[in-house]
Amino acid sequence: MAFELPPLPFAYDALAPHMSKETLEYHHDKHHKTYVDTANKLIEGTGLETKSLEEVVIAAANDAKLKKLFNNAAQHWNHSQLWLSLKTGTKPSAEIAERIESDLGGMDAFKKSFVEEGMAQFGSGWVWLVSNGGKLEIVKTANADNPLTLGKAALMVSDVWEHAYYIDYRNARQKYLETFVDTLVNWDHVAEMYAHAKAPRAAA
Ligand code: FE2
Repeated sequence: MAFELPPLPFAYDALAPHMSKETLEYHHDKHHKTYVDTANKLIEGTGLETKSLEEVVIAAANDAKLKKLFNNAAQHWNHSQLWLSLKTGTKPSAEIAERIESDLGGMDAFKKSFVEEGMAQFGSGWVWLVSNGGKLEIVKTANADNPLTLGKAALMVSDVWEHAYYIDYRNARQKYLETFVDTLVNWDHVAEMYAHAKAPRAAA
């Protein structure tokens, strides 16, 4: 089962001016596509060809010989989560707002911590909102690493590789992250993923 590049779940200009059509064309059509194509080449002969993307990421994370496959498969999974994390005009559900209050100190504290974690990720990486057994946490990961290998459920993610923001924000990662948490988070997706994470025998 070859990996496939998922289409963007919105129009290329849907997030402008906060995230431009040009950024999305490069980020989705070139960067993400390259990870998919490379993962499809690297998986040949590994015995993992019939596994799901999540299974491949976890198996490759635990095998040093499969580091390149891990990097490309995980980047495919991470970017697939990213596109689903983006939408303008949504608000946290009552349940998510309550969890943010109780677990993260409220919306202002959440936004501040999310930006700080993204800024603290030296070099390339990701900053995630995750559910850890129902409790919300902010987690940063380096390079292609992600919460799948930590046993935590991703609710949404921001990409802090330079290719995610350089066209629109140049070197201003903080401005990009502030715009991300203020304007671009798809809170409908967060609520959906949180419900999924809490469900009995929830899949990864
Ligand atoms: Fe990216």
